[in-house]
Amino acid sequence: MLVDLADAIILLKSGEVVAIPTETVYGLAADASNEQAIQKVYATKQRPANNPLIVHISDAGQVENWASSFPPLAQKLAQAFWPGPLTLVLPAKDSVLSVVRAGEPTVALRVPNHPVALQLLKQSGLGLAAPSANKYTQLSPTTAEHVASGLGDNVAVLDGGACTVGIESTIVSVDGDDWRLLRHGMITEADITVLAGPQTLTEEQPLPKAPGQHLLHYSPRTPLQLFDKRAGLLVAAETLKQNQKSCAALLIGEGVKPACPVIALNAEPEAVAEQLYSALHELDGMGVDQLLVELPEQSAEWAAVLDRLTRAGYQG
Ligand code: TXA
Ligand code: MG
Repeated sequence: MLVDLADAIILLKSGEVVAIPTETVYGLAADASNEQAIQKVYATKQRPANNPLIVHISDAGQVENWASSFPPLAQKLAQAFWPGPLTLVLPAKDSVLSVVRAGEPTVALRVPNHPVALQLLKQSGLGLAAPSANKYTQLSPTTAEHVASGLGDNVAVLDGGACTVGIESTIVSVDGDDWRLLRHGMITEADITVLAGPQTLTEEQPLPKAPGQHLLHYSPRTPLQLFDKRAGLLVAAETLKQNQKSCAALLIGEGVKPACPVIALNAEPEAVAEQLYSALHELDGMGVDQLLVELPEQSAEWAAVLDRLTRAGYQG
């Protein structure tokens, strides 16, 4: 059910959930200070309660309402990348609802770079807890139609067009002068390192809990197989055909195509990220027996796309 900005504000203020556009993916938003509203988010997503939510705020000036400290390193990152696809995990104020942070001592904050989301945040004056607007472990939505097909028509959706970044924000945890990458995104580890120096919270130190990092995630319903070489994908398509099985393929860049429906994306990380979930939603909707997905090269600029595809293809 589509709603306009004014209705979205009324719904959110009365404790309802509304799917909202951001530049990364659509989020299922609720008033972050309303416990019952947050419970509706978990229930709608069928998400386990140990997986904390990101609180979306209108500008860096709002950080002090949620975080007990805003270290200079985090301020520098906020100044460079907000509004934008960067989430900062900071020590939480005691007043931040435990359901929002799933009992963690930290809170995840982000200023989204989307005109509709920013208008909503400014006009409502709310902090909006918003996980991606999909059922737990399923494909993230990058259009209002994806939200409706994943969560059903009863969910209110504020349509802001197709998301331009296309995959979820980079998550960085900051503790004093130390930082750690918790989730890859289109702001790369190298982008952060330029401003913050090398990552100092290293593998040997206990990982700040990022429960959303389990492997099965971002998955289409159709079985999906990953290939790091086009040749392997072509052989698999041929074998499926010989066994009277149907398939469809996602390709990165030009080259020989298999004899099945194909979506071929431009071989640029930004272009692939923008189209990735749309392409997977479309392929998933074809009703074939098997999806064949070509992986990009293993390099730093492809880290976020590789991360999402690896999880989408995880076999359990
Ligand atoms: O781009 C995005 O980040 C999108 C849009 C809607 O903003 N949101 C999104 O939310 O991807 P979600 O819930 O699908 O993923 C949030 C991730 C989860 O992996 C969660 O575990 C992690 O953020 N997270 C949230 N709060 C945290 C915290 N206090 N400490 C560590 N990880 C946290
Ligand atoms: Mg998600």
